[in-house]
Amino acid sequence: MGKVYVFDHPLIQHKVAIMREKGTSVKDFRELAKEVAMLMGFEATRDLPLEEVEIETPICKTKVNMLKGEDIAIIPILRAGLGFVDGMLALVPNAKVGHVGLYRDPETHEPVEYYCKLPKDIEKRRIFVVDPMLATGGSAVAAIDFIKKRGGSHITFMCLIAAPEGIEALQKAHPDIDIFIAAKDDHLNDDAYIVPGLGDAGDRLYGTK
Ligand code: PRP
Ligand code: URA
Repeated sequence: MGKVYVFDHPLIQHKVAIMREKGTSVKDFRELAKEVAMLMGFEATRDLPLEEVEIETPICKTKVNMLKGEDIAIIPILRAGLGFVDGMLALVPNAKVGHVGLYRDPETHEPVEYYCKLPKDIEKRRIFVVDPMLATGGSAVAAIDFIKKRGGSHITFMCLIAAPEGIEALQKAHPDIDIFIAAKDDHLNDDAYIVPGLGDAGDRLYGTK
């Protein structure tokens, strides 16, 4: 069974708290999403493999650890997942970026796929699926289904805020993946929004609504 990591780092808690406030501007929300993605990505990439290589400092030759050059794919779930891409790319600039487009049907709350474009060699890549919100879990489960059908296997899921219902659904459907969460909230309301949450992450990132 994959693990669930909930961040208790004060910087992450503080930034997520500002993102939750309804008066936070679109500009600040977007910048904070990038910063939180970097802080979370730092931890989520902790198990990337290293290799020992010889280099020469101005003083002498020495052996140092460098990233083994593992191929990484960052896959945002459109559209709100895009808010995490720049922060992750700041950490792993050579990663390729795939996109899975899903929206929740407002009546049924079921995910509807409208786009999927992944790196060709997805089966060889370490994959980070990113989306700020894990509510019912329907979107994350469907996105990871699509990725697995196209050959992806070593997958980590990262989100800002998760409801217990979403964590349970994702673990049940995909018990092999690790889940990184900045904050675990209380429950879902009748419209399947996370309570207390931060509202509609896509609208808050892009100033729509
Ligand atoms: C939001 C969010 C997730 C999904 C979570 O996207 O970014 O993708 O809802 O809900 P779920 O766990 O119940 O599936 P939304 O459908 O609002 O689309 P958007 O990103 O285009 O705004
Ligand atoms: N999608 C969001 O953007 N927010 C929620 O609370 C639930 C789903």
